[in-house]
Amino acid sequence: MLLSGRVHVALVGLSGSGKTVVAPVLADLLGLVAVDTDAAVARVAQRSVGEIFAEQGEATFRELESGALRALLSGPPAVIATGGGIVLAETNRSLLRDHCEVVWLRSSITTLADRIAASGEPRPLLQHGGRTALAQQLLEREDLYAEVADHVVDTDSLEPDQVARLVVSEVTRG
Ligand code: S3P
Repeated sequence: MLLSGRVHVALVGLSGSGKTVVAPVLADLLGLVAVDTDAAVARVAQRSVGEIFAEQGEATFRELESGALRALLSGPPAVIATGGGIVLAETNRSLLRDHCEVVWLRSSITTLADRIAASGEPRPLLQHGGRTALAQQLLEREDLYAEVADHVVDTDSLEPDQVARLVVSEVTRG
């Protein structure tokens, strides 16, 4: 049972913070389903996130992302791995605050860059400039993550199952 009585747990943070990898482990521990806003967007658009950015642009991606978030919030209780930019829209921040116990997975730029490189998954907004772009995103977004987060978990040097156990202790602590 979540401490707050809210239905979902949302993981927020920059690319490489571990949201997508931690979500299924955490969902198993909490008895919830694991879902992912990027995967939901790709399902609806029938193309990859990279293709949406390349063919339709960021604004279209952000609209699809908001729609995906709304749809997932009306689904079964879930651990929701969100895209790193979900907090940019005030409507998304408000939805997250109202419906989710929000956990910010926070990592150093070095850790983020290493994990992104290891994942081999393309991030359209990070193609040019890697660490510099990440540092810029952190600057632009850290206040927004802090605004929605009920909990902050620092994930540097932790494995996904260790992060998941830390999150469980945060969201279920009486
Ligand atoms: C984005 C992060 C990506 C994806 C899209 C935009 C961002 O998700 O939603 O490429 O704006 O930071 P991850 O956080 O899973 O990489």
